[in-house]
Amino acid sequence: MTSRTCLSIILAAGEGTRMKSALPKVLHQIAGLPMVAHVVKAAETAGATDIALVIGHGADEMRKAAEKFAPRAGTFVQEQRLGTAHAVLAARNAIAKGYDDILVMFGDTPLIDAAALGAARAKLAEGVAVVVIGFRPPNPSGYGRLLEKSGKLTAIREEKDCTEEERKIGFCNAGMMAVSGRHALDLLDGVGNANAKGEYYLTDIVEIANAKGLDVVATEAGYENALGINNRAELAEAEAIWQKRRRREAMLAGVTLIAPETVYFSHDTEVGQDTIVEPNVFFGPGVKIAGGVKIHAFSHLEGATVAANADIGPYARLRPGSDLAAKAKVGNFVEVKNARIEAGAKVNHLTYIGDARVGAGANIGAGTITCNYDGYSKFFTDIGAGAFVGSNSSLVAPLKLGDGAYIASGSVITEDVPEDALAFGRARQKTLPGKGKELRERRASAAKK
Ligand code: UD1
Ligand code: CA
Repeated sequence: MTSRTCLSIILAAGEGTRMKSALPKVLHQIAGLPMVAHVVKAAETAGATDIALVIGHGADEMRKAAEKFAPRAGTFVQEQRLGTAHAVLAARNAIAKGYDDILVMFGDTPLIDAAALGAARAKLAEGVAVVVIGFRPPNPSGYGRLLEKSGKLTAIREEKDCTEEERKIGFCNAGMMAVSGRHALDLLDGVGNANAKGEYYLTDIVEIANAKGLDVVATEAGYENALGINNRAELAEAEAIWQKRRRREAMLAGVTLIAPETVYFSHDTEVGQDTIVEPNVFFGPGVKIAGGVKIHAFSHLEGATVAANADIGPYARLRPGSDLAAKAKVGNFVEVKNARIEAGAKVNHLTYIGDARVGAGANIGAGTITCNYDGYSKFFTDIGAGAFVGSNSSLVAPLKLGDGAYIASGSVITEDVPEDALAFGRARQKTLPGKGKELRERRASAAKK
């Protein structure tokens, strides 16, 4: 890594009308993280020492969101949207601090990979003044075209300003640029707005730099890295690309995905080696899975921590605060929330465990419910190690079952049960010999009449 200082300016002032949304465009999520946060991540990975976020539309919401995903970023408001160069200059005070490298990025281009940015910075280190990241989209319409001459970039022509010849060029401006900090303000201040749109185009700095005799080049990034999001169809396309990359990364790191195209990761999902994930599993944010775990089909996990060799699903739901110890088992149609399932404990079928501890080796029968909520407050259920809870029991919290406690099936347990005790919490069964037959005969003769 270079020791050069680097400011990343991320443009995110636009409204994104085509999203048809109350939410600012760049706050729409990919893998559970706002797209602009993906851009911030890429900038940081590429070595940006500081981040300047240029906001405008939905500024308050943006500022609030940025506190979470980029707490160190400075925010700069662009009051009027007069073009991309004008937007960059909203961060004039940040640029003026003096950086070796300036990276200009767009908040709506979330798949940009840090390597492409790093490559552009490397050119600056060689003495190039402006590096434009180019790409070859399948359909170049709408993009600025890169005009090159003997390996140098001479101009970027916005489509609306292109001649017919220029419009045929397939090499386009992806929108990202690396600019030498020494020249940045000088170049930006030279931009005017005499063009088809009457905007201050960032892209004009290419010709300005050339006129000053500075070196300008284009690098090339893969199409997917430069995909810009304008509507929800493109958002879904970007999500699909992100998921495809992440699945591959997981598999190459030793995770088995039986049907990778059906497994969805979040930006922060961690999965250990030799874990097997069956089809149709969804990882929401905050999931950490150790190695050797089996996650059966159709399970939904969020905010859960799972230790080695645990077994989950099929059709399990782990909600935030679920903490499964080694070899714990959470089976089909079981919901767990804010609960620790200790080593080897089994919660196999049709159960809700919320605000609870299930001690090591305990066995929770089908249909058990921890009644943790009285409509006002939440209460804790503490189940000791080796306890056995018979099927269809309601455990009314606050409640403590001692180690080895035994709960009879169908119980409603409202009082603590000491260690190794057996508790019944149900009406006694009454059996009347011969009465079944008598009843049947009576019903049959009544039906004949
Ligand atoms: C821009 C480039 C074009 C490139 C394309 C890649 C310019 C002049 N053109 O065109 O060469 O091929 O991106 O996608 O730079 N923004 C602001 N304030 C403004 C204007 C824009 O913050 O006043 C932000 C937008 O929110 C957006 C980004 O800058 O995130 C790009 O602006 P947009 O108007 O979409 O530029 P394009 O016309 O797509
Ligand atoms: Ca655009």
